[in-house]
Amino acid sequence: MSNTDSYQAWLQYRPIGTKKEEYKKWLTAIEVNEESQILESAAAELKKGIHSMLGVTLVPDNSAEGHIILGTYEQMDLKQYGISPEVFRDVTDEGYVLKSVFEKEERAVLLIGKTDRGALYAAFHLLRLLQKEVPIDSLEVVESPRNQFRMINQWDNMDGSIERGYAGQSIFYVDNDFNEDLTRVKDYARLLASVGINAISINNVNVWDVETKLVTKAFLPKVKAVSAIFAAYGIRSFLSINFASPMELGGLGTADPLSPEVEKWWKDKVAEIYEYIPDFGGFIVKADSEGRPGPFTYDRGHVEGANVLAKALKPFEGKVIWRCFVYNHLQDWRDRSTDRARAAYDHFKPLDGKFLENVILQIKNGPMDFQVREPVSPLLGAMKQTNQMLEFQIAQEYTGQQIDVCYLIPQWKEVLDFDTYTKGEGSTIKSIVDGTLHGYQYSGIAAVSNIGDDGNWTGHTLAQANLYGYGRLIWNPERTTEEITKDWIHLTFGYDPDVVDAVEYILLHSWKVYEKYTAPLGIGWMVNPNHHYGPNVDGYEYSKWGTYHFADRDGIGVDRTVETGTGYSSQYEEPNAKVYDSLELCPDELLLFFHHVPYSHRLKSGETVIQHIYTTHFEGVEEVETFIAKWNGIEGKVDNAVFENVKQRLKKQRDNAIEWRDQVNTYFYRKSGIPDQQNRTIHP
Ligand code: GCU
Repeated sequence: MSNTDSYQAWLQYRPIGTKKEEYKKWLTAIEVNEESQILESAAAELKKGIHSMLGVTLVPDNSAEGHIILGTYEQMDLKQYGISPEVFRDVTDEGYVLKSVFEKEERAVLLIGKTDRGALYAAFHLLRLLQKEVPIDSLEVVESPRNQFRMINQWDNMDGSIERGYAGQSIFYVDNDFNEDLTRVKDYARLLASVGINAISINNVNVWDVETKLVTKAFLPKVKAVSAIFAAYGIRSFLSINFASPMELGGLGTADPLSPEVEKWWKDKVAEIYEYIPDFGGFIVKADSEGRPGPFTYDRGHVEGANVLAKALKPFEGKVIWRCFVYNHLQDWRDRSTDRARAAYDHFKPLDGKFLENVILQIKNGPMDFQVREPVSPLLGAMKQTNQMLEFQIAQEYTGQQIDVCYLIPQWKEVLDFDTYTKGEGSTIKSIVDGTLHGYQYSGIAAVSNIGDDGNWTGHTLAQANLYGYGRLIWNPERTTEEITKDWIHLTFGYDPDVVDAVEYILLHSWKVYEKYTAPLGIGWMVNPNHHYGPNVDGYEYSKWGTYHFADRDGIGVDRTVETGTGYSSQYEEPNAKVYDSLELCPDELLLFFHHVPYSHRLKSGETVIQHIYTTHFEGVEEVETFIAKWNGIEGKVDNAVFENVKQRLKKQRDNAIEWRDQVNTYFYRKSGIPDQQNRTIHP
């Protein structure tokens, strides 16, 4: 049985087997060629990992027979090791070379970054290879991350709660203050850096009273302490701010972004923050969204709102990350001229080119809100002259809340591979957010974190795979789901083939299974209001105007076509617009997102919509049963605590799936009066 300490997640550094003696020849000493905190972190991690895996204590020595050389390229005699300096011309600041050299009985493993951050990533790369027991005698790796911003958004509140947190309380805050013990923050930084994360915002995007004060003297020393921990791992810290701060903190009578006193207030505030934290990243802003303050109050728009902050941050190279999750949650959606799905595009597309250069718009992957299935947001890539960043949600708000297993890498890959056609064929989301398609100065990907102070970080141990996979995928979106998944399993659980097969099976099927027993064919929602767990077909919170999904006795679906619906489909470039608009061409999995159809409508699969609903809901439960059988089959082969953790959650998942199946099937049976063709029991 492999021991898995779930607190260590994918950094188990488990003792290795057959390769041990071979590795020991290479890894006896370490030479660090420059002084820097990040290199110190890298060296500490190498020492820790190598000691744990090989029982070797690395000594500081550069003449030992087998040693690691860790550092940056400018401090190194590259030619001596047969590396052309040209290599570093094409490597980005966070890139690195990992190379093993065997010459005249001297063995050296070179971990050379373009900067110290690159060297840190090289160190984690080597540790991964060792844990995977890959031969290291002829390594020749050159790597650069594809995305510039690889960010995590914490939705932590200072009372210790976490908005949409499913793994305990905050590791950052307690009782409206910072935690005194920041050990977990440091371990979190290690986990994040090991998968290449380089930015973090440390408080919820909804900034309440206490959090508004994070930018004041009362808390800045503590923000500084947390930033320093992250900085030592190459991660830059950001704060979510309250747009009304000039009033709430500064006592001004307005927060109007065009008011000179407001502009000055922000300038002074930003200067003060940078006195404490010279490498501060900047602000993340949720404004005029879900009741949060913003420029609309003063008849100003997003441009004025974002730019006043951008001006203040510019001298310090700080950024404004302005969220596009803006919609009128009080709108009557029976009125076909309004559609929540349209909102982000309608608000922001006309503003292209008007934001200052250090503003980045952060856009959720779908037009609604992190549903199990949504089309890709048409705003992504639609603004050619405005920096954009994509937002994912690792926290499983609508995808099982870390009780149900739902591995999201396949979903994110579909998003990244989606072709927007915004500049002709091949205009993929990944080429938009990596900045290459439109030549954005700043861009990248952010995601809402799924961790809390639970012993295993993520509540469900298998949910660790989403955090790991997020980092690895956004470092290089070409990496396959299978590769990422295998790596995570090997690093976390080891190599027992039965364990690998079972975990891989569960993870790779889980997203589709979750989709099967929840809301069908892209319709979304149907969850309990507010907390968003479990079924409630009419549960959309803003449902005072009737059901969100427009289901009646004849049919279901939201008509978002141009002719008869909200016209949302026209926000896409051709041919996507035509495909989504057409009942014939629209892909089955998004049918009800775009079209209102009778229950008897035949899908491309040949099934009717109603039969699809019944069948997928029965199958969803059966497949959860399969997960349970697979997991039970590896009892004794994985750590007991981990086994129990997953076992208990799978049980709850089965209960949840059954509830979903019964509620959804009953609801649509009652509405349509059409029986299941296979005569399975639909609970009345
Ligand atoms: C969702 C979520 C909220 C969150 C919001 C956001 O609506 O339910 O809790 O604040 O997204 O992204 O701002």
